[in-house]
Amino acid sequence: MEECRQPSARLVVMASGNGSNLQAILDASAEGSLTDRARVVAVVSDRSDSRALARATEAGIASLHVGAEPDQDRTEYDRRLAEIVAGFEPDLVVLAGWMRILTTEFISRFADKIINLHPAKPGELAGTRAIERAWQEALAGERTETGVMVHRVPDEGVDTGPVLASETIPIELDDTLDVLTERIRRVEHRLLVDTIRALCAQPKEITA
Ligand code: GRF
Repeated sequence: MEECRQPSARLVVMASGNGSNLQAILDASAEGSLTDRARVVAVVSDRSDSRALARATEAGIASLHVGAEPDQDRTEYDRRLAEIVAGFEPDLVVLAGWMRILTTEFISRFADKIINLHPAKPGELAGTRAIERAWQEALAGERTETGVMVHRVPDEGVDTGPVLASETIPIELDDTLDVLTERIRRVEHRLLVDTIRALCAQPKEITA
């Protein structure tokens, strides 16, 4: 794994929505608590209205909207996306709320360099609305906890891949969906930053 070569790993963050996890990375970077061996060089979104793009602009970081063109299939889109991302020469590609399923066309271009954040424990609740589904299952008495994980993205599997970090999060009986979402977000922000720091601060020790 050469994802975080010296002296300063180049991070490209891909996000489709609000970008609170991107913000956690940017804040940690600005505060000096990420690691001086990593910096965000670009933020890419498939949605023009993604708040992540505005957050990047506010931080003075390159932000790009890469929208799907009419009649463009997933492979063609991913080829174009990969070209754009490759232009930033990333050491690490961070999927932080990226809502499009990536094809091999993209993944093979950045072998061993892609990580994803998912609001569930390993092996559980793959796909969209994972927090809402966990909350509904808790309401039905089927679960009392959920979690967060950061994992590598070696192939087209959705929310699968070798786990880098995970944490279990309780679901309280009186949790609203908003309360649970907020609790999960706080853990996500910390876990994602901690994982990037671990990958980039001591690259030799974490080489896969
Ligand atoms: C997070 O829950 C992340 O795990 C999931 O999408 C959400 C993105 O949140 N993949 P935000 O846009 O970073 O606020």
